Amino acid sequence: MNIETVKEQLKNVNYAGLDRDIVSLGLIKDIKIEGETLFLELISNNESVFGSIEEQIRMLFKDDFKKIEVTFLASKQTSTNYGSTQAPNNRAPYAKHIIAITSGKGGVGKSTVSVNLAVSLAQMGFSVGLLDADVYGPNIPRMLGITQEKLQWGEDDKMIPSENYGIKVMSVGLTTPRSDTPLVWRSSVAVSALIQFLEDVNWGELDFLVIDMPPGTGDIQLTMAQELPITSSIIVTTPQQVSCDDVSRAIMMFRDIKVPIGGIVENMSTFIAPDTKKEYAIFGNGGAQNLCDTYDIKLLGKIPLTMDIRETSDAGRPAVATDDAIQKGYYREITKNLLLEMGLL
Ligand SMILES: Nc1ncnc2c1ncn2[C@@H]1O[C@H](COP(=O)(O)OP(=O)(O)OP(=O)(O)O)[C@@H](O)[C@H]1O
Ligand SMILES: [Mg+2]
Repeated sequence: MNIETVKEQLKNVNYAGLDRDIVSLGLIKDIKIEGETLFLELISNNESVFGSIEEQIRMLFKDDFKKIEVTFLASKQTSTNYGSTQAPNNRAPYAKHIIAITSGKGGVGKSTVSVNLAVSLAQMGFSVGLLDADVYGPNIPRMLGITQEKLQWGEDDKMIPSENYGIKVMSVGLTTPRSDTPLVWRSSVAVSALIQFLEDVNWGELDFLVIDMPPGTGDIQLTMAQELPITSSIIVTTPQQVSCDDVSRAIMMFRDIKVPIGGIVENMSTFIAPDTKKEYAIFGNGGAQNLCDTYDIKLLGKIPLTMDIRETSDAGRPAVATDDAIQKGYYREITKNLLLEMGLL
């Protein structure tokens, strides 16, 4: 077996999580054969795939070489040069404005707000990209009706974002073989995947890059603040005290790391009964307004809990893309208020 045939064989080694082989991804740095030993040098920072790649290589050449030595070298591109929150990098120079949708808390409606804000901006004529930064719970593909889509690569070796409702979308959900494939990644791996989504996706020129953040105040939030000059962030909360407590922590974190806060959205403000249209304040009143008063932040809008929003969202149709003027109105109002706050309207 010579170097050429080894290289040919390596095309059978898959990179876990992506439907690509290690040769086409350009990971092979060096192949050497000395007597009955095969030496391979590969470039990757993603520790989580080392085991699977090495195992596949050993299986592949077990009958051809007595000894196989695989070395992983870090690529310079992502291992160095991380930014800081004081002087963030700009890994998305193609985007004029970067909007992060966050909350200290899970399940309060961040993804629903992100999707509707992004589609609403596109309906106003802006070019918009939506990045699903919720690596462990990527819900954006379902909410945009693109769960069946698979990651595509362009000729320039860049990923091609999916498109629907006039926006470009990238999500880890598009890279896994099935929507129920769990991702067991250390946070350093999740962070490098997101950096790749910023740098190696063909987003084109964007007026807005909207980022749907995962719940909490952890590594991913911090990385985004270090790697991107976030123009404005929207904080989503529900009215009850426990949600407002978590959101207070998120506000303090954002202030610490100098991410501008564009405003708060109160989601699930009241419940509107589908039959009687009667309104119930099941989570209490005034939670978000109190936060806005305490921290001197603008209330961008309130959205009630309605069956329609949940149904259209699960069905992959954002509220702003339906004919329902009332549901659309909530999100359009928030979009308008954000643009006003940013001085763009
Ligand atoms: N105003 C609303 N009325 C009815 N259902 C809603 C509303 N807002 C969100 N939902 C539903 O609540 C669920 C949670 O919303 P969503 O996924 O947007 O929250 P999240 O904050 O992104 O959650 P996570 O923290 O898990 O990412 C979804 O099923 C969504 O359809
Ligand atoms: Mg979400």
